[in-house]
Amino acid sequence: MDKFVITGGTPIKGRIFVGGAKNAAVAIIPAVILAGDVCRIENLPDISDVVVISAILEELGAVVKNLGGGVVEIDPRPINNYVADHELVKNMRASYYLLGALLGRFSKARVPLPGGCYFGVRPIDQHLKGFEALGATPKVENGMVSLNAESLTGSHIYLDVVSVGATINIMLAAVKARGLTIIENVAREPHIVDLANFLNSMGADIMGAGTDTIKIRGVEKLGGTTYSVIPDQIEAGSYMVAAAATGGDVIIDNVIPKHLETITAKLVEMGCTVEEMDDAVRVTRDKPLTRCNVKTMPHPGFPTDMQPQIGVLLAMAEGTSILTEGVWDSRFQYVGELCKMGAQVSVDGKAAIFEGVKQLTGAPVKATDLRGGAAVVIAAMAAQGESTIEDIYHIERGYEKIIEKLCSVGAKIERRSFPDR
Ligand code: EPZ
Repeated sequence: MDKFVITGGTPIKGRIFVGGAKNAAVAIIPAVILAGDVCRIENLPDISDVVVISAILEELGAVVKNLGGGVVEIDPRPINNYVADHELVKNMRASYYLLGALLGRFSKARVPLPGGCYFGVRPIDQHLKGFEALGATPKVENGMVSLNAESLTGSHIYLDVVSVGATINIMLAAVKARGLTIIENVAREPHIVDLANFLNSMGADIMGAGTDTIKIRGVEKLGGTTYSVIPDQIEAGSYMVAAAATGGDVIIDNVIPKHLETITAKLVEMGCTVEEMDDAVRVTRDKPLTRCNVKTMPHPGFPTDMQPQIGVLLAMAEGTSILTEGVWDSRFQYVGELCKMGAQVSVDGKAAIFEGVKQLTGAPVKATDLRGGAAVVIAAMAAQGESTIEDIYHIERGYEKIIEKLCSVGAKIERRSFPDR
């Protein structure tokens, strides 16, 4: 079993280059199923989630060419199968985008219920509600979701919950449906806008992405395209927090500073300096962290995918801070790991109360999930002494070359093999 071994206590200094956005990439790759020609996608992150979703498309019959350097060419024309029941599909949350994409192309889809990080119940009722409004009959049986439609027709859909996945899935299904689809109370995350831009670059007619209402006028055919994925907001935010946690000075390059505003605001509130440039931010900290409260919300609120990472700073900030999860039922699994490193945190339902400690200390911990994993890496970099982190596969699902990137700015991290217990 491989683990990360991290020796903490070194402020990181230098420049880190952020890759393409995971949550945009895992939507854009399945969206290629809808294209009528070859799509070239650039700036894809080098992470296992992208490898898996590309392999799933190949399994369906697409021709996928990895050209290296984050560029992939996909020819979706040979796909002739609307059933995706390969083992890979079951373990990947984002494979539910196959539902919208296959439905949009074949008016039918059969895909297993999604897996992925566990944050309490993760229903897909809003996805199904949208598909039904477009004319499909959904059925959930034996762990599979089946969708069947004679044809798809535009509709007016109001989402009861602001859901990234439902917004994306309904967009995928509606893009070739007959007539106009209006989706209200949609998610506004940067990757929603990126997917809409990608689909529009293939000839779709989508307006309003980034606002709370999206209008889609169905088109008969989509072509191919060349498209570059946006930078990863959460990877950038994670490195901003790493700079702050270690008292470092780091320029985080290839970012869209506007996407980082809420993270920047919290770091500044806690006593860090954040300088915004055109496509970079510089984060420095040379004084103790001050307490603050944080509540996660759908975009443009503070991102839930940054909740565990900001938790590390709250664990080290003088005084009492409250961190409230406003998106998921339960996303505090990592807290137990931080406590092994000396953090003083109690969880009460959707809130965690942090009593800041002066110094975290190294310990054997595990990555409980992707972002919880990023949090323990950051905590270990700030802690005194050595930490080992197991279950690192969670981290590698979503952070490209994390060791190389962090070591290039002075972190002391190794990936080491340990005998299986
Ligand atoms: C996406 O998950 C992201 N995943 C998650 O990032 C992120 O935490 C989440 O959006 C919120 O920003 C990808 O983009 C692949 P939701 P998703 O549907 O789409 C409830 C990461 O770390 N809900 O926006 O699955 C749901 O239970 C990952 O990169 C319903 O009730 O999230 C939750 O409370 C983890 N019914 C809330 O909505 C539904 O039909 C938001 O979920 C759908 C969702």
